[in-house]
Parts: sequence; structure tokens; C-alpha cells
Amino acid sequence: MRFTVLTLFPEFFAGPLSCAQMARAREAGLIDVALVNPRDFSNNRHQHVDDRPYGGGPGMVMQPEPLASALATVPEPGRRIVLTPSGAPLTQALARELAQENALTLVCGRYEGIDERLLESEGLEPVCVGQAVLNGGEAAALCLMEAVARLVPGFMGKEESGFDESFSAGLIEYPHYTRPEVYQSLEVPETLRSGSHARIAKWRREASLLRTLERRPELLQEAPLDGADYNFLRAVEKPAALGRSLFLCLLHHPVLDKAGKPGTVSLTNLDIHDMCRVSRTYELAGVLLATPLEDQRELGQRLLTHWTDGAGGRANPDRAQALRLGRMVQGLDEAIGWVTGQAGRAPKVVATCARTSYRPGRSRKERLIAFTPVPTVRGWLREDPVLLVLGTGHGLAPAVLERADAIVSPVRGFSAYNHLPVRAAAAILVDRLLGDAL
Ligand SMILES: C[S@@+](CC[C@H](N)C(=O)[O-])C[C@H]1O[C@@H](n2cnc3c(N)ncnc32)[C@H](O)[C@@H]1O
Repeated sequence: MRFTVLTLFPEFFAGPLSCAQMARAREAGLIDVALVNPRDFSNNRHQHVDDRPYGGGPGMVMQPEPLASALATVPEPGRRIVLTPSGAPLTQALARELAQENALTLVCGRYEGIDERLLESEGLEPVCVGQAVLNGGEAAALCLMEAVARLVPGFMGKEESGFDESFSAGLIEYPHYTRPEVYQSLEVPETLRSGSHARIAKWRREASLLRTLERRPELLQEAPLDGADYNFLRAVEKPAALGRSLFLCLLHHPVLDKAGKPGTVSLTNLDIHDMCRVSRTYELAGVLLATPLEDQRELGQRLLTHWTDGAGGRANPDRAQALRLGRMVQGLDEAIGWVTGQAGRAPKVVATCARTSYRPGRSRKERLIAFTPVPTVRGWLREDPVLLVLGTGHGLAPAVLERADAIVSPVRGFSAYNHLPVRAAAAILVDRLLGDAL
């Protein structure tokens, strides 16, 4: 593998490339690193390679010409990458892909970055090595080189060790132990000393799943998992049990009608069932079904009773468990009061809204909504009860949005079509809030 690195600081690489495995791989001819300094290609008599940014602002920007001239001299460039915080993340999958190449060219930025036209005109692939900003692309290029080089055949002592590491199976790796058996009264797990390959493999897989759940839960969405993995994850105790602080409220008034006017919408059997089923699945504290119409509350109560203590509940005990979470109330105030009684303190009221603006009053100007990100609401759940309010009809009326502590970021969809059923929105939002949160 031949790496060509374009850098204003070639000396940066001297140490890292002349020790440990990288040095051995270079000596063995497995990798070769050429360093090219764009300053050598500057036409400026002071050898400047940067200038002030158009549009103003602090710092300097690297000019495209010296970098383009430097790139033109690379004899065997292979895939050409620019290291930048705005690039695609460097993942193990990308490292594997890049390790198949014979050559890679890495462009290191400095200052505020590189003139965008260089990336466009040269078709450079932007890659980022982490969500933190470094002084320059050199440390990032080193990260990429190490990640790729160690996957080049022959680099590692035992070929398979690269397959058993963090991220190789989309998960974080299990913890490692060596001698002594007891260190500061902490023992090496018994299974690892058992000598049973099957038990050790199971322990490692589960430790890997658990670590990923605890530290990088988002990876679980993309990792290839089997039924045993899912069974294990499902059985993991969630110490914080955040769902027990989360209450849903389905408001049938005041909600908007087709014409955008506040009004009242009828109950639907499906909404009641599905809001309760979502709540039971995620172990929420309760579902408040709010309507000011007395006959509708009676109807709702009959439905709840039928599916809990009545014939429906006896025939479908699973459904009864879910519908037991449901409770008819008159409106938002009663819902808040009930949650306050249950939780011992007033909940944060979090509204949901698929629109991006609303008009607070007839003669008032349309107001853009400042949405609160889901992780902020998840943070509240650790301290306080939260009442997540969803609207039927065409969504919650401005009066409800106005009195809420927050309006949570909506489910965006992919087009202007914006009519997710409230049950589906509830399921998606609850999963975003609680999903794999421990
Ligand atoms: C100080 S940074 C520029 C940061 C830039 N103004 C921004 O906010 O995105 C200078 C150079 O360091 C490199 N760099 C910094 N952080 C990086 C990261 N996380 N991944 C890849 N390259 C990075 C890039 O080459 C970048 O052009």
C-alpha cells in the first residue's frame, strides 16, 4: 500500500512512522509513505499557501492552486481523500474498503480548511476521524493510515485478529483480561477461566452487545444481529427505567381541523389500542386519553373496561395489560393533575407538532417553532416526569403549543406530505426518546 500525504508539516510524521508496527511494515515493504509539501508548489514569492476567507471571519483558508499542483505530481494516487471535520466518518468498514486499494492520497488541511473548489474540481473524498476539531489533517491522516495499514495482509501477526476487533461485526469489542487473576480485589470473570470455548464465545458476544448498548447504542441499529442477540438485549435490565417517568396524552381538544381552526375530534378505537400498546411495549407510566365530551369519555371508558376486565380482556390478556395503562380525562389540565398525583411532582409538558410554525392568535404573526432535541427531553426524564402530548385531527392547537415547556423535534418524513398517523408518530417518538437509552 502506497500512501502519499500532502502536508504543510512533513516533520509531523517522523515519529509515528518510525516506531512499532508502522516502522516494521515500512521496513518489510508492506507500506510506503511519501510526503509532499504543497508549499513547494506555491507561486508566491513568500511561499504563501493561504489567504483570507471570502465573506470575512477569523483565520486563513488554504488556496487551491498549490494543492492542485502538488496533487498533479503524484504518480500513483489511488483514491484521493481529504481529511476534514465535514467528511464521512472513518469507520472500520471504510478502512476495510480502503485496504483493498494499492495506493491512497491523503490531503491534510490546516488553518480554517481548504478552498472548497479544490475538493470539487479534484473530486476528493472527504473523510472525518471524529466529532472533534483538530489543528490540522496530519493527526487525522495518521489515524486513517494506521486503520488501513493494519488491514493490509501481512501487517498483523495473526491474520484473523483484525476480524475479532471493535466494529468488525458492527459492535464494540468485549473487555480483555490478563494475569494476575485478581487485581485490586477485581477478579477475572470465571467464564474466561473455564476453558470452555462455547461458554467463552457466548460471554464475549454478550459482553460486546452490552458494551455497545451502554456506550454506543446507535451502532445496534446497523449491526447484523441474530435472535439470540435480540433475546439477550431484551433481557438487559434498564436501571434508569426512563419509561416509568414518561406519560402519553392524546388530546382530542383543542386540536386543529382541516381548515386550521381549533375544535374537537372524536375518539377512535384504533388510537386507544395503539397508544396503549406502544406504552406497554416501552413500559411507560400511562396514557391519558383526553376529550371534553362526556359521552365520548363514557364510550372510551366502556372500551377500556371491555379490553381490560371485560370479555375482550379475558380473551386477550396481552391486550388487557396494554389497555390497563389507559385513562379517560377531560383535558390537558386533568392529565397534568393526574400525572402530578402519580409521580409526586408536576410533569414537564412536551408537545408534538409536525408543522414548523403556528399563529399564536388570530391577529398575531405566524411564529417559527424552536424545536427541542430529543436528547434534551430524554435528559429531563432522568429528573422529572414528562407528559408527551399528541394531537388528533390536524395537530395540537396553538393554545397547547404555547403552554408546553417544549415542542420536541418532529418526525421529518421525506417530502412535503406530512400526515403521519398519531399512533405511528407516538411509536417513533417514544422509540427515539427511550429506544436503547439505559
Ligand atoms: C482547525 S481545522 C479546520 C476546522 C474547520 N474550520 C471546521 O470547523 O470544520 C484544520 C484542518 O484540520 C483537519 N481536521 C480537523 N479536525 C478533523 C477531523 N475531526 N477529521 C478530519 N480532519 C480534521 C482538516 O484537514 C482541517 O482542514
